Amino acid sequence: MTVETMLREASADREVTMSLLDRLSAQPADPLLAVIGAFNADPRPHKIDIGVGVYRDVEGKTPVLRAVRAAERRLVETQRSKGYIGPEGDIGFFERLKPLVFGSLAPGDRVSGLQTPGGTGALRLAAELIARARPDARIFVGEPTWANHPPILKAARLEMVGYRHLDLAAQALDFDAMMAALGTARRGDVALIHGCCHNPTGVDLDPDQWRAVAALLSERGVLPWIDLAYQGLGQGLDADASGARIVLEAVDEALIAYSCDKNFGLYRERTGALFAVSRDVEAAAVTQSNLLSLARANWSMPPDWGAAIVRTILEDAALTADWRAELEEMRARIAGIRTLLGAADPALAPLTREHGLFSMLPLSPDQVRVLREDHAIYMPSSGRINIAGLTPTTIPPFVAALAAVR
Ligand code: LMR
Repeated sequence: MTVETMLREASADREVTMSLLDRLSAQPADPLLAVIGAFNADPRPHKIDIGVGVYRDVEGKTPVLRAVRAAERRLVETQRSKGYIGPEGDIGFFERLKPLVFGSLAPGDRVSGLQTPGGTGALRLAAELIARARPDARIFVGEPTWANHPPILKAARLEMVGYRHLDLAAQALDFDAMMAALGTARRGDVALIHGCCHNPTGVDLDPDQWRAVAALLSERGVLPWIDLAYQGLGQGLDADASGARIVLEAVDEALIAYSCDKNFGLYRERTGALFAVSRDVEAAAVTQSNLLSLARANWSMPPDWGAAIVRTILEDAALTADWRAELEEMRARIAGIRTLLGAADPALAPLTREHGLFSMLPLSPDQVRVLREDHAIYMPSSGRINIAGLTPTTIPPFVAALAAVR
């Protein structure tokens, strides 16, 4: 027997005796979630967390919103059962959310959809719906995009076509690249677009750009899939949905993945919704039946508490007013930090034109490492920063640290 044959047989024997789980290979930890662990383990008192995308107040805390607390108290007193609701989740929640998203558009019976576990659940279900309808659909995505978009598309076995969203040097949207890429999309392809507060860049489309994109998608028969995860944290509740509404007016079909995690501060409650706009009422009913069956096979029924909180708030005028006021306080704090950053360092001036929690700095992974090791500043290696992780007190050391690594 030759050495090669012996090695082949030994490896075949190993294959036979390997258990199922032995066949797995180790996967890298999610880089963004790894930043949380590294920050928590750092004993330095002056450390700054501008990593994961959660809102923080001036004390660095992620608060439970006043209206949320009030709604929870009410629910504890009034909820009489923990019985199952169904794969569609809380219909009252879904219906109350509709006007926030669609405004006066009211596509009525053409809208189907359901409550999902967070925006991620909505995205995952939308990806599976697309794959079921058209497995060869190509998903056009501006890059960089939210780090979880590509894995979600991959999990649904969808092909992603990337194009350049951000001109990093100019800190501006590469609108020509976007239009050129979408101009190559075929009927039945999909454009996944951030509705507002682009994650990770903060660089959004202006109304004229939205109109041009809407016209192009409509002309080419490309389905818009809007990821609306930060409504109210950019320019205001209506302004942040205006891009989505411009697109919805121009097309027959669309998908909107919605998250309440950020604008209601419900992160760990995993509260989201998926809206599907179909061509007509009959098509909407078919879409709904598909969404229900996909949900059933994924999580069966979504967790209730977060959606019940949102419904309780939106059913009550006083709670809604208080939620809107606190959301506006959060939005104003983020915008204020952007203004302070722009004033503190001319290189950060473009951040004042951007919106929401995130901006992307032109930093190399090595500069990000030095910021972490030498200055206790934590962010993902992409150079994305969570604006809400900064305060008037931490801006000066942050700006000084940036100058030190430049
Ligand atoms: C983020 O981008 O930091 C957030 O959306 C949190 C997450 O799940 O990635």
